Amino acid sequence: MMRNTLHLLCKTLVASRKFLSLQSFKINVLKNAAGCRACDLWKNATQTVFGEGPSPAKIMFVGEQPGDQEEGAGRPFVGPAGRLLDRALEEAGIGRSKVYVTNVVKHFKWAAAEGGKRRIHKKPRGLEIQACRPWIEAEIRIVRPQVLVCLGATAAQALLGKRLRVRTQRGQFVSSELAPYATATVHPSSILRAQDDAARQAQMAAFVKDLKKTAKLLRSKQES
Ligand code: URA
Repeated sequence: MMRNTLHLLCKTLVASRKFLSLQSFKINVLKNAAGCRACDLWKNATQTVFGEGPSPAKIMFVGEQPGDQEEGAGRPFVGPAGRLLDRALEEAGIGRSKVYVTNVVKHFKWAAAEGGKRRIHKKPRGLEIQACRPWIEAEIRIVRPQVLVCLGATAAQALLGKRLRVRTQRGQFVSSELAPYATATVHPSSILRAQDDAARQAQMAAFVKDLKKTAKLLRSKQES
């Protein structure tokens, strides 16, 4: 009895030490990322936008970079693309509060639209993605996802390899050293750009189908 209690106490102590060191690692990563000057994107940005969600989390979604609204809020996927992602997650039976959501690039890259007021998204360059790499790697270490889901070609090629083609490989699980399972699908903003309602509905259905594969995989792992 005494031995069992001691064993339990030791396990709890080890677990809480691990938890505390993970928490302080997380706080350090967040603090350092906020002041990152590894590329020039900080010059035109107001703040870094780090990922959010529980850690550990079974699923980690990775997009390209925060948009205008995300930068304002300091939170990923809270604008139009985020709302579409929320709907797709709901249709796929995945709770947003259960997943971790982030981006490969933590600063908003933009150019002023003609007229000057609006800020238009600009695709990050390879060097900018590379400069941000330590942050996404740190996040993956903290969150330890079972499934890493890349949203769109920028995230997919940054994390799963330059040769990955979202168009032909979407929804397939590919091997990666970053997580036990990894997959890529389209970026929700590509659905927002669909040319008409019919195309948008078809693209949304295909997106939900991809997400359901991840939900199904996790269910099968839980059952086995
Ligand atoms: N697009 C992204 O890739 N990430 C966001 O956080 C918002 C829009």
